[in-house]
Amino acid sequence: MHLQTFAASQPFSLIILLFLAISLPTNSQEFSTELFKREMGRSERLTHLHFYLHEALRGDATAVVVAQAATTYTYRYRFGEVLVFDDRLTEGPNLSSRVVGRAQGMYAHADVEELGQLMAFNYVFTEGRFNGSTLSVLGRDTPLSAEREMSVVGGSNVFQFARGYVRMREYLDDLDRGVVVDEHDLYVLRY
Ligand SMILES: *[C@@H]1O[C@H](CO)[C@@H](O)[C@H](O)[C@H]1NC(C)=O
Ligand SMILES: *[C@@H]1O[C@H](CO)[C@@H](O)[C@H](O)[C@H]1NC(C)=O
Repeated sequence: MHLQTFAASQPFSLIILLFLAISLPTNSQEFSTELFKREMGRSERLTHLHFYLHEALRGDATAVVVAQAATTYTYRYRFGEVLVFDDRLTEGPNLSSRVVGRAQGMYAHADVEELGQLMAFNYVFTEGRFNGSTLSVLGRDTPLSAEREMSVVGGSNVFQFARGYVRMREYLDDLDRGVVVDEHDLYVLRY
């Protein structure tokens, strides 16, 4: 897998490095890019990952309702409903493009007044040097917003000590087929 690594010899502040990372163009060919590396006993890197998540709510559903409150249907945004999902992650927006992993976890409708969900899930990578590694996400999703951001709170294997964030944008919402495709951009610090 092609990598871009920028050695940071000066003690830049993290904020400047993150700003630099955000302003760098993304590489549409690969789903991950190394943005910098600095030596601190162990070297710390900032990795950018970019891929698409596919969720099917009907047919061969990848998200299923597992629980709800007796009063869930009295709320416009199904307060109290909990879903479990196992969604495919692909390098491009097409479901048939290269699979890089899965997103597995759950979300709970946790907002009484608008569509707001508590998300708790793992990215389970199955491709390249990330094969067998996971990243864990905890945050709030508001699917009606153009862009949402959640915390990456940790990881395993190559993502030990990981922290960062993921920004999600809706790419496709096909109500007829019950299919949603979201674009995910992650910035993750790791060793
Ligand atoms: C996705 O890829 C398949 C197979 O290559 C192709 O037939 C289909 O048109 C593509 N769909 C879109 C939306 O690009
Ligand atoms: C990922 O790792 C598993 C288990 O070690 C292995 O069976 C599989 O072939 C690997 N996949 C890729 C794409 O390297």
